[in-house]
Amino acid sequence: MTPYYQDDLVTLYHCDNREWYIHHREDIPNFDLVLTDPPYNEVNRKSNGLSRLDRGEADSLEVDIEWYADQFATHSTGSIYVWCGMRQLSKWLDEFVKLDMSVRGGVWHKTNPSLINAQHLWASGLEAVAFARHAKAYFEHTISPLYFHGRSTPMTDVHPTAKPLWLFEEIIETSCPPGGTVFDPFMGSGTTLEAAKKCGRKAVGIEVNEEYCELAAKRLGQGVLF
Ligand SMILES: C[S@@+](CC[C@H](N)C(=O)[O-])C[C@H]1O[C@@H](n2cnc3c(N)ncnc32)[C@H](O)[C@@H]1O
Repeated sequence: MTPYYQDDLVTLYHCDNREWYIHHREDIPNFDLVLTDPPYNEVNRKSNGLSRLDRGEADSLEVDIEWYADQFATHSTGSIYVWCGMRQLSKWLDEFVKLDMSVRGGVWHKTNPSLINAQHLWASGLEAVAFARHAKAYFEHTISPLYFHGRSTPMTDVHPTAKPLWLFEEIIETSCPPGGTVFDPFMGSGTTLEAAKKCGRKAVGIEVNEEYCELAAKRLGQGVLF
């Protein structure tokens, strides 16, 4: 498959990752780190009378967790981080346990949460991450629970659900060895690839929406950090 964008460190494909996994089954490398952020299928749901947040197709997809967990584990040798909705967290962890991996659930505490509806219920300021590791995965961090604390990227800036660069840099520095390769099959605006470049790691990304591929390619090509 021809890459949509490529440079010395990163390669980006514009396609449906399910087709990519099926068509490249024989030659998918074993990635050192899978760092990905599939649609949570959460924020577009009916909001019980409260106003709706609309993040469009970037968030609305019923992800087949069992199938993806198997793909991520089969084609990696190190760690896997999957950002997910709170209701999806235990399902991801269960699937990785079935695959004989060690797991942890973690959170990112956003210091600037959206205040929409916050007069009616708790502000939505915690995001969940499922972590799983193969034996001997690279890990370079001070002793700590899986907890991140910091600001989110404003929604209007780039992509409706973009993650902040600092968050992915911290994960890559911790769990991808120097010279290793990070994989993100739900790449969005390319935060994983940009963070990998900043950390001097290689990365491969896949995104189904061409508008987001274009955004990522511009970002990576120009070295624009957002
Ligand atoms: C939550 S967003 C990722 C945002 C990303 N972390 C960032 O910082 O920009 C999920 C992305 O997955 C993409 N996506 C959904 N289904 C996909 C599929 N089957 N193959 C590839 N990309 C897909 C969506 O278009 C969306 O951009």
